[in-house]
Amino acid sequence: MVTGAARGIGAGISQAMAAEGAHLVIVDLLADQAAEVAMTIIENGGVAKSVAADVTDREQVKAVIDFAVTSYGNLDAWFNNAGVNDPREFLSIDKENWDFIHDVNCWGVVVGMQEAARRFIEQGAPGKIVNTASSVGRQGVGVIAPYCASKAAVISLTQSGARAFAQHGITVNGFAPGLVDTPIWEGIDKAVEAMGRPELKFSRLHSDILLGRAALPADIGPVAIFLAGSDSDYITGQIIPVDGGMVLV
Ligand SMILES: NC(=O)c1ccc[n+]([C@@H]2O[C@H](COP(=O)([O-])OP(=O)(O)OC[C@H]3O[C@@H](n4cnc5c(N)ncnc54)[C@H](O)[C@@H]3O)[C@@H](O)[C@H]2O)c1
Repeated sequence: MVTGAARGIGAGISQAMAAEGAHLVIVDLLADQAAEVAMTIIENGGVAKSVAADVTDREQVKAVIDFAVTSYGNLDAWFNNAGVNDPREFLSIDKENWDFIHDVNCWGVVVGMQEAARRFIEQGAPGKIVNTASSVGRQGVGVIAPYCASKAAVISLTQSGARAFAQHGITVNGFAPGLVDTPIWEGIDKAVEAMGRPELKFSRLHSDILLGRAALPADIGPVAIFLAGSDSDYITGQIIPVDGGMVLV
């Protein structure tokens, strides 16, 4: 199961895992685009289904898990990847902006972790939970402070979840992308342009990347496969940076 998989990183992860033989459920608010990702996977010889759901709605998340189990027999790995951003100057952050970002990026992750873990425990087979964090979860950025805080929370939830679920053999890990070429940047670019901060646009941020370029969703695929499969069985509570060397910790 990959949430936020109708486009961007989630679609890239799904395509990479399907190529390795995983049976995917593509979950997103965007029903048509999610169906298109599933169709592309099927056309390439993979196995995928799509379902429209809001990750902040527990009943919808439960229904998605039921759908996966009915479709494939078991739930093996759950990716909390759906995420949103809405840049603004620090002094302009309001409750609505804060809540919008934290509802999806944090509460959505809590619900996904809980319902996936419940299913893993119920089925008696250890599973994998993987969270999409961000390099900015370890570094603040003035014009996306709520987003940075939400991704710091994802790192913390990954650690807490690892401790909470280890007794059941469930691992909880995440990865922290830096700059990835996806549609999320369309909104960010417009917002920073409107703030008079064009230096913060996607095309202007590459100079901080040691490997000299932004990532494509395909660059994330191998780490996603590693964290969803048995090769990572002895790793839990960790965040793997996949950022071309933007942040060195
Ligand atoms: N692109 C980057 O540079 C970058 C860097 C670091 C982390 N990330 C993180 O990677 C993840 C994927 O981002 P992306 O760049 O592919 O963005 P994106 O906007 O292209 O994709 C995000 C997807 O999440 C879906 N989504 C949003 N709210 C949802 C909800 N409530 N329920 C279900 N689906 C929902 C959207 O419809 C969209 O398809 C996010 O968590 C993002 O914060 C992105």
